[in-house]
Amino acid sequence: MNDYLKQLPGPLLKIIREIGQVSDDLNLVAFLVGGIVRDCILERSNFDVDIVVEGKARVLAKALAGRWNCRIVLHKQFQTATLFYKNFLIDISSARNETYDKPGALPIVQPGTVAEDLFRRDFTINALAVCLNKRHNGQLLDPLGGFSDLIKGKIRIMHDHSFLDDPTRILRAVRFQKRYKFSLSDRTRQCLKLAIRSNCERTVTSQRLFVEFKKIMKEADPLPALKMLNRTRFLRFIKPQATFNYHLVRSVQHFYDSNPRLSVLFEDEDFRWLSYFLAFISFFDADARNALVRRFHFTKHEKKSIIDALYKERSGKILSSRNIKKSRIFKELKKFNVPTLIFFRCAMPSQDRKEGIQWYLDKGRYFQLSLTGEDLKEMGVSPGHRMGEILSNVLDHKIDYNLKSRKAELLVAKKFIGSIESP
Ligand code: CTP
Repeated sequence: MNDYLKQLPGPLLKIIREIGQVSDDLNLVAFLVGGIVRDCILERSNFDVDIVVEGKARVLAKALAGRWNCRIVLHKQFQTATLFYKNFLIDISSARNETYDKPGALPIVQPGTVAEDLFRRDFTINALAVCLNKRHNGQLLDPLGGFSDLIKGKIRIMHDHSFLDDPTRILRAVRFQKRYKFSLSDRTRQCLKLAIRSNCERTVTSQRLFVEFKKIMKEADPLPALKMLNRTRFLRFIKPQATFNYHLVRSVQHFYDSNPRLSVLFEDEDFRWLSYFLAFISFFDADARNALVRRFHFTKHEKKSIIDALYKERSGKILSSRNIKKSRIFKELKKFNVPTLIFFRCAMPSQDRKEGIQWYLDKGRYFQLSLTGEDLKEMGVSPGHRMGEILSNVLDHKIDYNLKSRKAELLVAKKFIGSIESP
């Protein structure tokens, strides 16, 4: 096994070895390619397994799925398959040769060799492959000088048309440059500038651009890449002539750094990028936000956050009312998603507002009643508006007076029922 791969966690290494064995059994030539090879050489962790096979990817994928008894998804159109095995995602594709009919279009794909497959990729540092077959086990295939560029810290495109063929590579170049603190080769920088000058982003869907933009927002430190994209004027694809709020993105970053518990909680749920994005577009008015959610594909939850962020002033005023009760803070903030709340927390100017939101994030949002409508029914309350009112009142009490037990909730409910019924 190649020395670079040895740093991978044991279970992953075992999986990669098995892929090599099964490929040998099937007489297929298989390579580990792309980001995982790059990151192994850089000694960084990356667990996304990308396999390229000379021949039919689905033959290898089906054999592996049978052996591991794991879930497999076949993407017929692209001759690729994805396996879900032991928390790892394994993409298997047939080596291909791509040509572009016109700039920005999806490529025309034909079967090819692994070397051709590497040539169609974005940068030399991503065009490295490690053979997994026994005969050449661990051999690094590096037809484009990717290894030397990795060592020199250079991002280099393969040919002058690269950014025009696929303008999303502009975002990728900036992302990798800032992530690894690399520099663009002179020619790559010139081609990138020329591509931007020719408005290349018009040839590609907003959606494809946004997928790559989102990856920047998910970087550990997205700011350097965002600033560089702004300097190159490429951020106009989000909104021409927009002003973005870099300062607030930094504040959100500080917030996460000083709230490690929240960071861990939201890492999985993918929320972090959204709070960065809300900060970044904080100067956008209602029209700009509506245009944004129409143009790009956001989930329902993301759309809600983008629009809800407009309520910052309104909620801020409520939170700074004198002697505001915790139950009122709860009522105001429960309408918002967590990324929106983190955005509010960082964007609101005064300490009292920040404290209210912090309380809600740490504690408030977990409040819920043990008491249910069924309990109230047993106490003679019929379902409807009144029942809702009682439950809401008991919850207010629980929050404001720190009711600890179900018994206490029942007592408060009884009191309410009594006070409503007595004239
Ligand atoms: N790739 C490409 N052109 C693109 C997108 C991807 O050539 N526009 C190739 C690159 O070889 C890349 C591989 O596909 O290494 C996988 O892409 P992706 O998963 O998006 O990125 P990684 O390089 O794995 O980077 P990371 O996951 O670390 O962001």
